[in-house]
Amino acid sequence: STTEVSTTPGNFEAVGTVSELESQGQILNEDFQNGAISVTRNPEDAQLLYAVNPTCTHKGCLVDWNAGERKYICPCHGSEYSPDGTLLKGPAEENLPPYLVKIEGEQVLVQA
Ligand code: FES
Repeated sequence: STTEVSTTPGNFEAVGTVSELESQGQILNEDFQNGAISVTRNPEDAQLLYAVNPTCTHKGCLVDWNAGERKYICPCHGSEYSPDGTLLKGPAEENLPPYLVKIEGEQVLVQA
């Protein structure tokens, strides 16, 4: 008998456009397959994007992107995360989950 184990990762899903990212500094899409998704970019390198699930790992509030300080700040109890989801300040104890993200033409795609 043959056992087939699928290692195929999830498909990339379009979550927004490059223009949206450029004009607003963030793509926030709450209809993403695995829950909400937030995409930001490195101001030094427009091709370098970060995608995270912006649901605070403390008690589940949606974190706000602070473009000036280049970090996510939770409006509920003040936890902070870097653009790649790394926890900077509690009370949360876990990072925001990161996702693979890429640009294809005008579309920004995230791997579900
Ligand atoms: Fe985000 Fe508590 S829910 S800090």
